[in-house]
Amino acid sequence: MSEHGTTHDEVSRAATGTLPQRFDDPGLPPHVPRQADHDESAAKRAERQVAVMFGLSIVSTVAFLVAYFAVDQRSTVFFPGIGSTNAYHLVLGVTLALSLLMIGLGAVHWAKTLMPDHEVVEERHPLRSSDEDREHAVATILDGGDAAQLPRRNMIKYSLGGALGLFSLPLVLQVAGSLGPTNVSELAETLWDIPTEGKHAGKPIRLMRDPQNTPIKAEEVAIGSVFHVLPESLDWHKEENVEAGRAEWKGVLDEKAKAAVILVRLDPKDFVSTKARDWGYQGIVAYSKICTHVGCPVGLYEQKTHNLLCPCHQSTFDVTRDCEVVFGPAKRALPQLKITVDADGYLVAPEGFKEPVGPSYWER
Ligand code: FES
Repeated sequence: MSEHGTTHDEVSRAATGTLPQRFDDPGLPPHVPRQADHDESAAKRAERQVAVMFGLSIVSTVAFLVAYFAVDQRSTVFFPGIGSTNAYHLVLGVTLALSLLMIGLGAVHWAKTLMPDHEVVEERHPLRSSDEDREHAVATILDGGDAAQLPRRNMIKYSLGGALGLFSLPLVLQVAGSLGPTNVSELAETLWDIPTEGKHAGKPIRLMRDPQNTPIKAEEVAIGSVFHVLPESLDWHKEENVEAGRAEWKGVLDEKAKAAVILVRLDPKDFVSTKARDWGYQGIVAYSKICTHVGCPVGLYEQKTHNLLCPCHQSTFDVTRDCEVVFGPAKRALPQLKITVDADGYLVAPEGFKEPVGPSYWER
């Protein structure tokens, strides 16, 4: 017998290429019993620990369900070093992760402390098991519950049942929640809509360079140039937040995402559609920058063809024809923002978009 547990006979047969049918001693380390194997109080303690983990999963799942309805979807929370983030998404993510993590930790701890830990040698056999082996396998599976001490460990049985049963609810809730009414009205309202009350009521909204946040004079826009634009009313939104005692940045990112606009100047003779030209100012036209496919920013402009391109899936929009789709998966033209100039020569939007911006899933 060698130090690795093989006989000379096995070694010589292996050397000549004929492996033995079985190893008498495959070299398994001796089994060391765990404390819970011989100490019932240790087993009880392990059972309680597992039950606590499953219980924490239940608490997290319930917290998820409560937060789904109770937390304001626009609320934010500030973390030093990270900054402001959406509290709704954070709470849902953390509670869902905890409920899954606790089920996992409970199961691992259960397996390590209470389930059988004997190493088992399985003999090689033909790929298809004999009928006898198959019956044996079924019997083994059916005996698994007994081997895992499930009938004797009621705390584990019920807490695991509760944890797994409840864990399906957040998944169902998210699917059911997303089947509800679409939020088209949210996409139809942007910061380009002229305020009807407050100190800015009725005031046309200036187009501001992004990110410099400076107004743009028509004479500064050369033919062929492109500007990325946000509404002046983004500042008004922040002012309102401060006046109402809210965090200055509350809701700003959502509004910014909907209000992004791309501005280009063409020779007026290049327009095929009269609307494309008439809603602009001396060849300067503004379109929503949010792709009507799935919402990426349409940030590329091809001067020669007057096409706007979305880098995500290559949807292409023809500026000379009301930004209608000429290529790619988008199904709807980019919404146009009507513009003109104010008394000081700055570009302004006298009214908001006439149709919802962004992906057009709601049209299907
Ligand atoms: S998001 Fe623009 S093409 Fe898909």
